[in-house]
Amino acid sequence: MTYTYESIQNVRAELLPKAQAGDGSVLRSAALRSLYDELKTLPPEQKSAFGLQVNSLKTELEEAVAANQVTVDERLPIDVTAPWDVNIAEHERPAVLPAKNGTIHPLNAEIDTILDIYYRMGFTAVPSRQLDDDYHMFESLNFPEGHPARDDYDTFMTDEGYIAPAHTSTMQNRVLLQYKDNLEKGDAIAVVIPGRVFRNEDLDVTHEHTFHQLEGVYVQKGAHVGNLIAVLKTYMSEFFGQELQVKIQPFYFPFTEPSFEFAVERPKAMRKDNSEAEQWLEIGGCGMIHPNVLKEAGIDPEVYTGFAWGFGIERMVMLKNGIEDVRHFESGKLEFLRQF
Ligand code: DAH
Repeated sequence: MTYTYESIQNVRAELLPKAQAGDGSVLRSAALRSLYDELKTLPPEQKSAFGLQVNSLKTELEEAVAANQVTVDERLPIDVTAPWDVNIAEHERPAVLPAKNGTIHPLNAEIDTILDIYYRMGFTAVPSRQLDDDYHMFESLNFPEGHPARDDYDTFMTDEGYIAPAHTSTMQNRVLLQYKDNLEKGDAIAVVIPGRVFRNEDLDVTHEHTFHQLEGVYVQKGAHVGNLIAVLKTYMSEFFGQELQVKIQPFYFPFTEPSFEFAVERPKAMRKDNSEAEQWLEIGGCGMIHPNVLKEAGIDPEVYTGFAWGFGIERMVMLKNGIEDVRHFESGKLEFLRQF
């Protein structure tokens, strides 16, 4: 068939190469449809010649697609573990921004640094969960129903009663159960748990509804407060790249006994002046794991002792990098992200 109408020739020139690449979408394309629209506007004597050529073009395109289409069967076996572009024909791939334009989010980069420090100290990492239940949020941590300290963790709950965890301590019972075989073999349970947590907060420069914590759990025969302080102090010095003084002071958490608040000497680069108030930085809570928490995971507190801690990750990253507002992290603002 020779196409004598210019509009048909143009559409053919546009669509045929795509059809020959197996792209079936040309048959539903606006370009092809525009020819049928044009047909309706033509004077009656031209309608049949034009209509014939349009139908002929449609057939030509259909044949070209059919001859070149990669069928699902021909693509088999599909490797479901392969990256998506292996299993998808080139013309079917969605347009994505080139990866070279992206960078790792500052928080993820620092979480990698933090985990690296703990790996070197012999800890394993387990990710936390973003939806949990009352048992892991409270009961397994020695907050029985009606315990007043539950009010300190005001978070979000689904209609079904699931909880957006307000701390990564929700993972304590799980890692104790998962790794308690280590104890029988004479090894320690040594796990760190990075995770996203949620709180119903009034937002300001240091409070965000969504933030990250790093939980640590260590259990072994004879573990004591001195070991806890040594682990935290070593970690802090590595993270901030300088030897720092630490201070622990008594506090209360239902899942540790004794419980402490942990502060570090504010690194020199992060001081505006040398006032007393500037000397210490509160970083998080810690303590010796409460016997009830060990018992709940089937570990005998008469034989084994352990310690745990939970630190706010944004807080540490802000201090290390001089970031003034915690809300930048979740903002997705490019001006912020491009600095890292
Ligand atoms: N989960 C506590 C919080 O978010 C922090 C914490 C305190 C974690 C003491 C611990 C711990 O593991 O032992 O307020």
